[in-house]
Amino acid sequence: MADARPFHWEYQPVVEREALRVEGGRVLRGEVRISGSKNAALKLLAAATLTGERCRFENVPEIEDVRVMVETLQHLGVVVDHPAPNVYEVASGDVDWLFVPLEAAAKMRASFILLGPLLARFGRIIISNPGGDRIGRRPVNLHVDAMHALGAEVEYRYGYYYVRAPGRLRGTRISFPHVTVMGTENAVLAAALAQGRTVIQPAAQEPEVDDLIAFLQKMGAEVERTAPDRIEVEGRRRLRGADHTVMPDRIEAGTFVVAAAVTGGEVTLSNARAAHLPVFLDVLDSVGVELSCRSDSIFVRGAPTGSRAYRAARISTAPFPGLATDLQPPTAVLLTQADGTSELEETVFEDRLEWLADLGRMGANVEIVDDHHARISGPACLRAVEVEVGDLRAGASLVLAALAAEGTSTIRGAHHVRRGYENIERKFLELGASIGRVEEGTARTAG
Ligand code: EPU
Repeated sequence: MADARPFHWEYQPVVEREALRVEGGRVLRGEVRISGSKNAALKLLAAATLTGERCRFENVPEIEDVRVMVETLQHLGVVVDHPAPNVYEVASGDVDWLFVPLEAAAKMRASFILLGPLLARFGRIIISNPGGDRIGRRPVNLHVDAMHALGAEVEYRYGYYYVRAPGRLRGTRISFPHVTVMGTENAVLAAALAQGRTVIQPAAQEPEVDDLIAFLQKMGAEVERTAPDRIEVEGRRRLRGADHTVMPDRIEAGTFVVAAAVTGGEVTLSNARAAHLPVFLDVLDSVGVELSCRSDSIFVRGAPTGSRAYRAARISTAPFPGLATDLQPPTAVLLTQADGTSELEETVFEDRLEWLADLGRMGANVEIVDDHHARISGPACLRAVEVEVGDLRAGASLVLAALAAEGTSTIRGAHHVRRGYENIERKFLELGASIGRVEEGTARTAG
């Protein structure tokens, strides 16, 4: 079996006690290339198990979540090669162990995306319930209901789903009670090898779902988005291997847009698609951030810090094409610099506003009204803190706040940030930030 460990020279293994040290107040300037999308890459790697033939992916981000997915696939007997940086090849000819353990689920909720493809191809799987994390309970009932609708028998014992499909899965109509991204993806993956036609409505409209559909079509699957919120799948007996380049990460792009805006910088994002960020870019425009977009690049010019040039806004997260919940934390950081009181509404997850308390400790004027609503009044002069992060997007957003703050912040639990951002410190360093990784009290890099 191939060695899963990426040999990429820039990859550094995750150390749970690592911290990021950020000295704020530097103006970011230059160009940054946005990496491949985490939430597309994870599903594409899982989709490759629908065939025994080799699949090849380019522009895969070198991040911890991808490493965990690769390791999980290898434990199943899937051969994963990593012939060059950001390139992965997956061959699932000899899957011999249809069991996704608690260890994988605890490290990464997205391991549950293996349910659909493995069930459809092998007719059975035992998979751990991924449970909850810092942004709410995050149940998987809708994924399980979708498999049930496709004809699977599901038993839940001691934290594991035992799922079987006697014969082939059967096409059906799947009506989710509300939009679910991974639920839609699991249903599409399972339906690709089912007998007959499956109609999913409402289906998630996130661009990552369409990247998955594009790859499945290359594999020979008959999958199509027939209306904005409807996906239809005509199941095939067999799919073939295919090559695919992972779409750019729109959440990473949004993070760098805010970094430029809050430091009063001038940054060009290459490999960034404005079409994937419709509401977010409208919000930034209304706040007063200068933006100029081309088909695959975004130029951002921030207002000088302390200029009171940004205006308050009302934002509400929603499934695509609405404002992505993953961009709520970076947008909140920007709103600390806006003149007036901004209103935030988080509609997708519970508990995703809790991190605002840390932003408050940095000097932001934040009022958490309830689990779904908050107010931010500004502009605030942010100051450095020592803080422990518990989730990926909140962690990256505290880095943004630290870049805009006076003094040197220490952000502990930085491994959460590495779950989803490729080379984040190097990218910020190249834009002129002062940022370094600290491990057990020892500085490893400095800017
Ligand atoms: N939900 C259920 N039951 C289910 C599934 C979802 O009640 O079986 C609820 C969730 O608790 C939530 C809502 O439905 O309240 C929507 O969740 P969704 O299923 O759409 O989220 P997801 O597919 O689990 C993906 C991304 C998240 C992103 C959300 C929303 C991946 C691996 N994760 O999660 O990304 O926030 O969609 O866009 O694709 C991140 O990258 O940091 C991240 C959390």
